[in-house]
Amino acid sequence: MPSIIGEAPVFLEMLEHVSRAAPLSKPVLVVGERGTGKELIASRLHFLSGRWESRIVKVNCAALTESILESELFGHEAGSFTGATRTHAGHFEQADGGTLVLDELATVSLRMQEKILRVIEYGEIQRVGGSETHHVDVRIVGSTNADLRGLAAAGKFREDLLDRLAFDVITVPPLRERTEDILTLANAFAINMASELRRALFPGFGPRASSALLKYDWPGNVRELKNAVERSVYRSPDDGAMINDIAFDPFDSPYSPSGTAPTRAAAQERRRAPLLPADLTQRVADFEQELLEAAMGRAKYNQRLAADLLGLSYDQLRGKLRKYDIRRSAESADD
Ligand SMILES: Nc1ncnc2c1ncn2[C@@H]1O[C@H](COP(=O)(O)OP(=O)(O)OP(=O)(O)O)[C@@H](O)[C@H]1O
Ligand SMILES: [Mg+2]
Repeated sequence: MPSIIGEAPVFLEMLEHVSRAAPLSKPVLVVGERGTGKELIASRLHFLSGRWESRIVKVNCAALTESILESELFGHEAGSFTGATRTHAGHFEQADGGTLVLDELATVSLRMQEKILRVIEYGEIQRVGGSETHHVDVRIVGSTNADLRGLAAAGKFREDLLDRLAFDVITVPPLRERTEDILTLANAFAINMASELRRALFPGFGPRASSALLKYDWPGNVRELKNAVERSVYRSPDDGAMINDIAFDPFDSPYSPSGTAPTRAAAQERRRAPLLPADLTQRVADFEQELLEAAMGRAKYNQRLAADLLGLSYDQLRGKLRKYDIRRSAESADD
């Protein structure tokens, strides 16, 4: 089973949910933003189930046209279409006794959705061009970063299939909601990269790099973190010095062609156009309070982490929290 890193409470709760859902044979959906680790979670559902000795077959539904997806999933009989020279067992048959992961499920056509629904209902498939039915015992795990309920409401995803697939839904939290895991993941990825580069050791991230890793929003989640860390390690000289700069954006260059989109970090900094006239003092105070609340939320009320996110000392942060009376709603005033 591929190793999964993460100890943030929201992440552990999700893993606990996975362990509870794994032994069932009912379909399950794994949803979450891109790069959050849905594929790892789908594998974990298989390897923690009684099906672990049988196959797990993963299909990326977005990568295939409807007719290819159909013959990949259901198989075909020889002669069923030009080029079908031999009988071919599809993924449903290959995964018999095991798990079939339908990745990027939201892209499947309505007609294929209907065929998939029939397998879930009756456990039977027919190969393309065939008339015989084959019984299959397959656990289906669907994965997507799309809003399936929204798509269903818009008539683009079958409600009945969604009801069946969503017997239970596992939502993988985005990285920005588990800041506690950022440095652990970054160190693990960096150590792997250093050993891939046959470097004797990974000297670690310096304070500037650590704080940059913690402050960034990670819209591409763990995949983006992994790429940024690996890039930073391999670009750094192998001289035993700590890494101080994180290469967030591979396109970042003083020579990049003009007219390209601003760097992701710069886009994140962009603000709304100011409304005038304004009470400057009040507006600055409101903004300060907004940032403090956002940082405390992101840091899960860990004041040292929040101070770091804002570039303040611990004492400066404490002072400002008092000034705006910001505390966890459950806390009493003398905490
Ligand atoms: N908790 C984790 N521990 C270790 N590696 C992780 C973790 N989560 C994600 N990764 C790594 O991050 C990368 C992206 O993960 P994965 O492909 O599972 O994401 P995904 O949610 O399926 O993304 P997408 O929606 O783009 O398909 C992979 O290289 C994976 O190994
Ligand atoms: Mg994926």
